[in-house]
Amino acid sequence: TSSVGFVGYRGMVGSVLMQRMLEEGDFAQIDPVFFSTSNAGGKAPAFAEGADALQDAYDIQTLAKLPIIVTAQGGDYTTKVHSELRKAGWDGLWIDAASTLRMNDDSVIVLDPINRNVIDQSLTAGVKDFIGGNCTVSCMLMGLGGLFKNNLVEWGTAMTYQAASGGGARHMRELLTQFGDINSSVETELADPASAILEIDRKVLQTQRGGLDASQFGVPLGGSLIPWIDSDLGNGQSREEWKAGAETNKILQTSGSHHIAMDGLCVRIGAMRSHSQALTLKLKENLSVSEIETLLAEDNEWAKVVPNEKEATVEQLTPVAASGTLDIPVGRIRKLEMGPEYISAFTVGDQLLWGAAEPIRRMLAIAQG
Ligand code: HSE
Repeated sequence: TSSVGFVGYRGMVGSVLMQRMLEEGDFAQIDPVFFSTSNAGGKAPAFAEGADALQDAYDIQTLAKLPIIVTAQGGDYTTKVHSELRKAGWDGLWIDAASTLRMNDDSVIVLDPINRNVIDQSLTAGVKDFIGGNCTVSCMLMGLGGLFKNNLVEWGTAMTYQAASGGGARHMRELLTQFGDINSSVETELADPASAILEIDRKVLQTQRGGLDASQFGVPLGGSLIPWIDSDLGNGQSREEWKAGAETNKILQTSGSHHIAMDGLCVRIGAMRSHSQALTLKLKENLSVSEIETLLAEDNEWAKVVPNEKEATVEQLTPVAASGTLDIPVGRIRKLEMGPEYISAFTVGDQLLWGAAEPIRRMLAIAQG
């Protein structure tokens, strides 16, 4: 057993990570040391029998004793602690869910069903920083790996429908509170089947425009949407949109002439924890829909092809169907009118599982050999 430090295990991503590690029996292989940014000296989590009291997550010397550190504490923590640790000469493995180090030349974005070869080569080459990808990018590649890995994509656009959880736990609560407040504002009218729908609509809009707490998202999300995610890069593109191209190519190592143009619009919607995206892909070959479906289904055990029919689609290709599972349903695959190489696809993934915790959990297992 090797010692592994865990930072941020109580947050939303950290909790999902712990839950997955328990489900898979991962703790049998490791000697966990739990760190806290706020409660050093406190009790270790109940699920880790026999673990020592919580260590101070800012104590560089204690951290530096560990061969592997896994963090889901967030980007500010990474910014503060990672460089200090490296400056102190620590050469252990840093496995991180935050985006801070993702695009560094000496870090690898981990998504092993898609880039296990890159991970293995990097470990051999002495790379020490292994970072989880952006949730939308990871879920997209898990669903469409069969096309990307076989070098069949010339370019793509991803138009996203991203869940509240991407903002954080408080954002999920805010969305639900907004739904509740909207409902309360028209409760009497809703109870009366004879009430006028346009009057209900007017009152809902009034509530949305002035009666909702929107302190997390900034504007109401319940019953609306927000077509901008993350910061404004100043060139018309959001940071989330930039990540689609930058991270896809880094994960696949398709730099230079192999670069795949990936771009799109990222939109927040009122779903809880699964991100969806509608893709347009220009393929390099004229493949039949069934050839495409076979490639996708065979690429990895989590991609689940949904036949492009109404009943299967509305039942299987939604956030409600995908949430809480490791399945990545992918469907709506058809040839577009633009030509035989142009296809549509729609994919959904739980952004806390494949979008965040699962690639980290699997990287920890790979690192232990
Ligand atoms: N940036 C993502 C989102 C979350 O806001 O949905 C994490 O990758």
